Amino acid sequence: MNLDFSQIIPSIPYILKGIAVTLKIVVFAVLLGFVLGVILALMKIGKMKVLTWFADAYTSVFRGTPLVLQLVLIYFGIPQLTGVDIGPFPSAVIAFGLNSAAYVSEIIRAGILAVDKGQREAALALGVPYKLMMRDIILPQALKNILPALMNELITLTKESAVVTVIGEMDVMRRAYIVGGQVYRYIEPLLIAGCIYYVLVMLLTLLGKALEGRLRKSD
Ligand code: ARG
Repeated sequence: MNLDFSQIIPSIPYILKGIAVTLKIVVFAVLLGFVLGVILALMKIGKMKVLTWFADAYTSVFRGTPLVLQLVLIYFGIPQLTGVDIGPFPSAVIAFGLNSAAYVSEIIRAGILAVDKGQREAALALGVPYKLMMRDIILPQALKNILPALMNELITLTKESAVVTVIGEMDVMRRAYIVGGQVYRYIEPLLIAGCIYYVLVMLLTLLGKALEGRLRKSD
């Protein structure tokens, strides 16, 4: 067996620095994806046909094409169309955020529809306006039920963020590649990257469990 970590040990801090880059992309993308996802979900369950059609078409396109393609399209497309070079980090946040919104909108839509009909009827009977009913009654209950699915999305994004390597963002994955190229040994740095992603995902899983437990307590 030819595994030798001694050469890459000095480069481990360099790879670890990628964690901040990875997490920054994920955090901003998740926020963007969540906000857009809620809006799209409301469009899907609303009564205006055009908005429903738009939201469905949006989801279909973003789920029906590879994320890595969306990423490079945005990275190369925005400068070409607008003349503004936004760079890899904003491109990554936009691509992951837009992509995630498609998935999040379906999760939230299902969550809203799963809230007991009586809640809606009671709110309407009491004359609560639609907006307030959604904000204060339906959405909070829906969010509790879909928390596991949302955490799952966060985990997916964390792992998928590794594709930013293709546009040159210095995340964990790209740093591992670079170290591999420097020492002509790829397995070792890539295994380190694998461990980093695994630990990140385990931490997110624990965080999700803790959040769920807290929400369940309020039942
Ligand atoms: N590999 C999938 C693709 O390229 C990932 C989609 C991202 N998934 C997500 N839940 N945001 O389409």
